[in-house]
Amino acid sequence: VHNCDVKFSSNSSMVPYIPARLLKAVKFLPALLLLYVLLFTSISRWPDSAGPRFPPQHISNFVCPSSKAFGDYAHFEGCSPNETALSESRILLLLEDVLSRHGKLITQMLNATKCSYKIDTFSKNLLLLTTSTRGRYSTIIIENFNRYINLPKRNRQLLDKYSKDYKVPIVSFLPGRAQFFSSSNVSGMNLTVWHNQKAFNARFSLSSIIPFTARPGVVLPFPVSEGREWTLFEESPLYESVLVAEDIEGRRRAAIIRDKGTIDGVEKIVFGHNLTDWMIGLGFIDSLRWSTKCRCGVNSLDRFIQIDIDDVFVGARGTRMIPDDVKALVELQERLRLHISNFSFLLGYSGAYFLHGDDLEDDGDRKLLQNAGKFVWFPHMWKHNHPQDHNESFLESTMILNKQFGMENNLQVPFEYAISPQHGGVYPVHEALFDAWEKVWGVRATSTEEYPHFRPWASRRGFIHRNVKVLPRQTCGLYTHTQLFHLYPGGVNKLISSIQGGDLFWTIVLNPISIFMTHQQNFAHDRLAEYTFENVLSFLECWTRLRFRWEDPISVAERYFHIFPMEKTPVWSNPCLDDRHRSILPPSFNCSNLTLPNLLIVGPQKTGTTALASFLQLHPDVSTNGILERTFEEIQFFSGENYYKGFGWYSQLFRNIEGTIVLDKSATYFDSWEGPRRAATLLPHAKIVVILHDPVLRAYSWFNHLVARNESIVNGLSMDDVLDGKSASAKRIRSRCISGGRYAHHLDRWLEWFPSSQFYLIDGGELKENPVRTLTDLTRWLGLPPFDFHSSIKYNHKKGFHCKIISGIPSCLGASKGRSYPSLSPSLSSRLCFLFQSDNVVLHKMLLKHNFPVPVWLSSSLDK
Ligand code: A3P
Repeated sequence: VHNCDVKFSSNSSMVPYIPARLLKAVKFLPALLLLYVLLFTSISRWPDSAGPRFPPQHISNFVCPSSKAFGDYAHFEGCSPNETALSESRILLLLEDVLSRHGKLITQMLNATKCSYKIDTFSKNLLLLTTSTRGRYSTIIIENFNRYINLPKRNRQLLDKYSKDYKVPIVSFLPGRAQFFSSSNVSGMNLTVWHNQKAFNARFSLSSIIPFTARPGVVLPFPVSEGREWTLFEESPLYESVLVAEDIEGRRRAAIIRDKGTIDGVEKIVFGHNLTDWMIGLGFIDSLRWSTKCRCGVNSLDRFIQIDIDDVFVGARGTRMIPDDVKALVELQERLRLHISNFSFLLGYSGAYFLHGDDLEDDGDRKLLQNAGKFVWFPHMWKHNHPQDHNESFLESTMILNKQFGMENNLQVPFEYAISPQHGGVYPVHEALFDAWEKVWGVRATSTEEYPHFRPWASRRGFIHRNVKVLPRQTCGLYTHTQLFHLYPGGVNKLISSIQGGDLFWTIVLNPISIFMTHQQNFAHDRLAEYTFENVLSFLECWTRLRFRWEDPISVAERYFHIFPMEKTPVWSNPCLDDRHRSILPPSFNCSNLTLPNLLIVGPQKTGTTALASFLQLHPDVSTNGILERTFEEIQFFSGENYYKGFGWYSQLFRNIEGTIVLDKSATYFDSWEGPRRAATLLPHAKIVVILHDPVLRAYSWFNHLVARNESIVNGLSMDDVLDGKSASAKRIRSRCISGGRYAHHLDRWLEWFPSSQFYLIDGGELKENPVRTLTDLTRWLGLPPFDFHSSIKYNHKKGFHCKIISGIPSCLGASKGRSYPSLSPSLSSRLCFLFQSDNVVLHKMLLKHNFPVPVWLSSSLDK
């Protein structure tokens, strides 16, 4: 693994571990043999094939090659306290192609650090990228620096200008090339690189301002990438060497450089390898922190670590803790306190299974109670019940039994924290669990691995439901079945690589708060938990500057949402689309009966959305939600307060609805900031219809809508007054009026969440003038059988609009749709045209980029 001194795991406790247990086993041999026969299905504590039940010699504890301290790094740029709150700062990620392996690694890192980012590829028009998103990006990450170097001149100029003008650094990677290149020169940068070099003695530079989590000066003593090579850069006064290494002949080279823009004004950080190397990864995370000016989730060196031990007293005979294991657990807690200040294990108990082991294990249970005061306890569930299978009164009664057990045995449950067995009921939410928790334990915090999904771990998040703060829970490879080194799934080297620069290492580096799930069994037998945590902490202490802390679970929960306030509101997903979620649904929830919309007409408002939805429902295969009581004409789920009513509320609106197309038309979705994300999370396969009506007419219609409704904010203002924006209310109306018509801005966000193939764009002018054609085309796109719209939609002279014909009688929309008001004056029209001009230019480019049709009004407005 490395060339350090070999030590056995767990300095002291592991050595007497075997003989002590053997002696006791001999004493209880007859009983054990009998039990073995009776419980042959359970894991035997002494399996014949187990071999030595302590870490084999090659699995030594990690020893840091150098514990020397290296200064106080006073020159590192810290985040000022008011910068540490995350704000909307975006990263533009330019990938080779969206499926590339390295691209996935980059996105995983960005997800884990909760940096907001947008992915694009080089294949499309860079001009659009830079014009439509002016000032929005804080960093541009380019997956392959070669692509940047070889960009066509015009595109390179555009990108450089954008980077220079808006001070947006470029972060990129220069991977090795298939062919061996002794050296090459990067055009325009005066930079010499050597590809595929063996690098030795790598260390972060003491003088660089970039390393934050990484510990500068600590030398990696063995070849950094045995079998893998880095690209090395010739050091130069033009560049800062962030990571330095030696080449095979001992010459000092740089492996990460920072270009301060000395030559072209474009600040860059270039990595001589991709993120598969954890040292490069640390440099990348630190670069993000620097380039985004502390706006990702890696602003502090403090890492809060909580280790939950679930299933205390639960488990088949032969898998449970014996007295020696309890002693070792107490000692481990003491040792972990040397790494993690204030550390305590959190033990989750299920009282019903107390004394359900063999004699030795029952002694272990008793010893645990004798030592109860040394730990923090939390309720798991009396019989390890799965909450989703039970109603509230049952859950309440089992919780009371568990509580009584705890009180009788002096288990201290000082914090309103609980864990649900198998995560059931937390997400997907089972309200009965929340009710019972509130009544019996007053639960205020919990954690789960299942929100929004178990995988990928880097995207797990928290949310608050009914005042219970739900934090993401991390797995560290320690499940009930991971008890023995030689049986570690995938081989013990998998555990070691997770600790030494792999998943577990990254979990702690990237999460300011890590709540780990472990099980009682991981602290028995080979005590893999002991090995895992001591080693990962030693490894982290060796290579990073992180500080480890423990805080009670309620304070940690508060801290979490202070750091990540944007996670407070849950984002509902469809549990039937996730196998793990499906397996933890209440039995009464039948996925085959679940109906959700597969078509959203998202708006914008005042573009003819009501007419479109009403005409579309003439088709026999199209249905929509039932009438809503005490709420809007539209559901407005994804864009407003109704979202807090939850997935259950939304789905019951469509219960028993039949039809190939199930429609939710809510015109407020289009310009809602959260709308696209929420819609895509719940309805990832939905088709999205957007009506693009001339924003000038839309703005005027919207203003007249306020006037007709006697909205107090308008209060005698004319449209010209609104555009003048002299009063506070005029300013407010003006901004709402205009922002709704900035179509490119909103469409861009929808396109981030849904592929362009799921969109259908309608020309609002055509819908008004020729709805039959619009509806015929739309239904064809939806794959519906042809329908004779011609006979059922007719122009109505009295209304001045097209109306449905039902049983030969015209049925027009109500008075609020198709109002009469003074026509738009030429001067007002040109004022509005001017306001929307630049947005329309961007919209035009965006439509072309995605091969969407260009509405007639847009072509003619650009021709003017
Ligand atoms: P006006 O009332 O200002 O004319 P929405 O339903 O999205 O709120 O849009 C209302 C607008 O739809 C109306 O704005 C009207 O111009 C337009 N519209 C298009 N076709 C229509 C129709 N057949 N009947 C009524 N309004 C229609």
